[in-house]
Amino acid sequence: MKGLILSGGAGTRLRPLTHTRAKQLVPIANKPVLFYGIEDMAAAGITEVAIVVGDTAGEIQEAVGDGARFGVQITYIHQEAPLGLAHCVLIARDFLGDDCFVMYLGDNMLEQGLAEFVERFEARRQRPSLLDGSDAGPCRAQILLAPVENPSSFGVAEIGPDGRVVNLVEKPAQPPSNLALVGVYLFDSVIHDAVRAIEPSDRGELEITDALAWLIHGGHHVSHQLLDGWWIDTGKKDPLLECNRLVLDTIVRRVDGGVDGASKVEGRVVVSPGAKIVNSTVRGPVVIGEDTRIENAFIGPYTSIGKGCAITDAELDHSVVLDHSRIDGVGRITDSLVGQQVQVSRSPDLRRGLRLMLGDHSHLELG
Ligand code: G1P
Repeated sequence: MKGLILSGGAGTRLRPLTHTRAKQLVPIANKPVLFYGIEDMAAAGITEVAIVVGDTAGEIQEAVGDGARFGVQITYIHQEAPLGLAHCVLIARDFLGDDCFVMYLGDNMLEQGLAEFVERFEARRQRPSLLDGSDAGPCRAQILLAPVENPSSFGVAEIGPDGRVVNLVEKPAQPPSNLALVGVYLFDSVIHDAVRAIEPSDRGELEITDALAWLIHGGHHVSHQLLDGWWIDTGKKDPLLECNRLVLDTIVRRVDGGVDGASKVEGRVVVSPGAKIVNSTVRGPVVIGEDTRIENAFIGPYTSIGKGCAITDAELDHSVVLDHSRIDGVGRITDSLVGQQVQVSRSPDLRRGLRLMLGDHSHLELG
């Protein structure tokens, strides 16, 4: 079993952050989203992993390296343009050979790991009729489905009367069900015939949804599993904050940095080495990165602050702040995503009005 992680997308829905960094490297609890996927692969026993990269290739390669620290061996495959998920399979043909593989969208996060999903596929391939009562031949692909409120934004499965997937459609105006395709798929080598056979969709991409539908219509056995636990596509601000909240809920308290006598650090809080908490309250779950200074401040639940930041005379909760940013004297900030090297401060003379320098695609909600 090999792994294929897709990290080529442009991340337009996370601008302005993605003007300067890959969406797969935006941190969740101070760790890039992509790293969780690689760790899941390693935990499932997959050691040969390829990452499909696009314009942000350099940055992703620099962050991930050769994979040794994750216990996997990484190969990079360059996609010249975002031509679709099935196009990624097409260009990964040499790496994949005829092996089975798990394909994982680099900006998706799942509560359930990959191990059980992979084990079930392998068991189904060996003894298909015994496990699910069918005699449909070996399982060629396995998909993960989750009920969603807005199926038109996803690939959607149509389930037949016998409980099998009978069709899949990408972002349908009239969804046949509320079951969305989660960004994790298992395939055997027949998928290579499918991705060669399909045509680009109306949005000009080779859709993996169409390749799966091609398998089903060709009589191949595509099994499905309903998702256990949460799943988040982190490509937008609010889902990203939600994902940060869910991951912070699992952290274990560890205070390595300095906390002065006038400060309180309550509950599950990580204070990284070199960080300093001065005359402040930090109420977990919270992660504070290396060499960050928190002074005269309140850091409330579900907040991740990167390294080298300075938060002074401010209140911050349910927010993500990336590395080397400064927030000074601005009252309460909530539900916010702040990029790298951002400066937020109070103007000495507010009668002169707000003074802003915002990047393209910035969002600012003034209270
Ligand atoms: C892609 C897939 C879609 C799937 C979704 C999961 O959508 O095309 O079928 O449901 O990922 O996140 P995209 O991210 O291209 O909108």
